[in-house]
Amino acid sequence: MNQKIFIKTFGCQMNEYDSNRIYDAVKKIGYHKTENYEDANCYLLNTCHIRDKAKEKVYHEIGRVKKKFRSKQKPLVIIAGCVAQAENQEMLKREPYIDLVIGPQSYHKINDTILNHIKDKKKIEEIEFDTISKFEYLKKIKNDTRGISSYLTIQEGCDKFCHFCVVPYTRGPEYSRPFKQILDEAKHLVNNGAKEIILLGQNVNAYNYEGFKLSKLLLEIEKFSGLDRIRYTTSHPKDMTEDLIEVYKFSKKLMPLVHLPVQSGSNKILKLMNRKHTISEYYKIFDKFKKINPNIEFSSDFIIGYPEENDQDFAETLNLVKNVGFINSFSFVFSPRPGTVAADLELIDKKISMERLELIQNQLFNNQTKMNKSLENKTINVLVENLTDDKTQVFGRSEYMTSVIFNGKKEDIGKILPVRIIKSNRSTLFGEVINNSNQKVA
Ligand code: SAM
Ligand code: SF4
Ligand code: F3S
Repeated sequence: MNQKIFIKTFGCQMNEYDSNRIYDAVKKIGYHKTENYEDANCYLLNTCHIRDKAKEKVYHEIGRVKKKFRSKQKPLVIIAGCVAQAENQEMLKREPYIDLVIGPQSYHKINDTILNHIKDKKKIEEIEFDTISKFEYLKKIKNDTRGISSYLTIQEGCDKFCHFCVVPYTRGPEYSRPFKQILDEAKHLVNNGAKEIILLGQNVNAYNYEGFKLSKLLLEIEKFSGLDRIRYTTSHPKDMTEDLIEVYKFSKKLMPLVHLPVQSGSNKILKLMNRKHTISEYYKIFDKFKKINPNIEFSSDFIIGYPEENDQDFAETLNLVKNVGFINSFSFVFSPRPGTVAADLELIDKKISMERLELIQNQLFNNQTKMNKSLENKTINVLVENLTDDKTQVFGRSEYMTSVIFNGKKEDIGKILPVRIIKSNRSTLFGEVINNSNQKVA
């Protein structure tokens, strides 16, 4: 078979990793990646269920595909990801254009599912939580992603059951991949040219494989020559243990940005959310990191307008944002998700939620702008990832994940270069490369 597959990915980095691995898998049965969906023989939507309208977005996308393929042969249409897991059979019933529905822990079955469908035209849904088999299978088909910065999923699922969140239902229970399996995949990525590896998990710092924790994994990956930077996301405050914090004392490759979602600055709201941590515990973690290295910065996710959030609770969140000085953070208004504990709670006034969202985003944007401004006229290390779209400059990332654009060339891709920052805005730094390697780096 020589067929083309197009994957559209929504949601978190774990979905991006999964989409890449699906490309690796379907190659074995003759499907090759296309960037143009109108060319595709197979159209796969890798979906996210985290906030509202997730389901509607899927039907909307399918409507668009239907229209485009009206006068052409219909592609094989597959719905994967977290909406597939949550909705399963419902989708096949509601939209006959969909052929297959595959949940996130069943990707190892994708080739058989496609081949069976081609043979007998039966609509199939695969939604078992079979994470062990999935990674055993993925281990055999090499990770062929070739990015300067590459994702590597080390942990899946969640046992924490925050009252607002669908992840425990869509990704299943917490599972840590075998230690050696991860090291082998990391080595392979480095051999393929990765200079940065971003370890992923819905609760990445809960990683624990037969007593081997994330701290141990980081120290092992640190030893790989050719690899320059390591990051991990997303962490939970409850799992931010001493051994992990200690790694920052020794590591030369771990980047000084800790993504540690706090969700709210109010203890009352944290309790209602079933977050299992308090604000003072969060500050203690913050202080420990700052003591090791004052240049470590924090980023977070925030849920605004959670049921029962009053002005005082919101003021506490705003206060936390100012005190910690979070950069690069995400904030969304609470969205009730079916099947979760918070699904049927009484919502607060929408207008108030929107006003609070605006206030918090302004504060977060201020923090970011201030941070970027402070780098002007300083020299920072930038890992070059690619040429800019117009190919006249290069694009890279600072140690804090901020985009940097400067006057590099194609040969610079994959290198870490000292760049003097000339100007900045909220999301991007603009600079010029410094040729003098003795230049002091901020
Ligand atoms: N495991 C991570 C943690 O504990 O913070 C978060 C993973 S979740 C995929 C990413 C983010 O989505 C959460 O941090 C939260 O801010 C947001 N989120 C989850 N459920 C939400 C909801 N019902 N409404 C709004 N935002 C939500
Ligand atoms: Fe969702 Fe909470 Fe689990 Fe994070 S820890 S994935 S927010 S249930
Ligand atoms: Fe979305 Fe599933 Fe990730 S719900 S955020 S794609 S774990």
